[in-house]
Amino acid sequence: MIPTRFPVALVAAAAIIGVGAATVHAHGDVTPQPVDTTGLKPIGEEWLEKNPYSGNDLAIKIGSSGYNQNCARCHGLEVISGGLAPDLRYLEKGETGDEWFIQRIRHGATINGVTKMPAFEGTLSQEAMWAIRAYVESKHDDS
Ligand code: HEC
Repeated sequence: MIPTRFPVALVAAAAIIGVGAATVHAHGDVTPQPVDTTGLKPIGEEWLEKNPYSGNDLAIKIGSSGYNQNCARCHGLEVISGGLAPDLRYLEKGETGDEWFIQRIRHGATINGVTKMPAFEGTLSQEAMWAIRAYVESKHDDS
């Protein structure tokens, strides 16, 4: 009986893959993915305005995976935007960029009542946010 059931399983698998792809493209309503920040110095409750992990290799590595799971669907893989959202390679380096970054990632962006970018405060830890910032800054483009 297994041979006749095999194609059914294939169809089911294809359907699941199809649904997965549709979810990825539905902007705005995708569940934020937690980021494991084990190994990074804990930050505490107070919100910082400056990235404590700037240039930190482990933070960049953690941030890369955090970015790919939470931001890439809008801001593009490897921080190269396909046009859906601003290209974060051009976000200023250093403290000015840090301040802008933390405001945006905490509160998201709502324009005329439409959520263009979800708020990540409450779902990502501050450690995860700054790790993502360290990754984004490592991809900075001066041109
Ligand atoms: C659902 C799509 C979406 C997701 C997911 C998303 N963003 Fe955004 N983001 C946007 C849009 C759209 C804007 C531009 C909003 C505006 O016009 O003010 C934006 C703006 C920003 C800005 C300001 C950029 C600038 O040049 O002003 C930063 C920083 C940013 N996002 C970071 C992130 C990070 C980090 C993540 C992941 C944790 C993320 N975003 C996830 C859509 C998204």
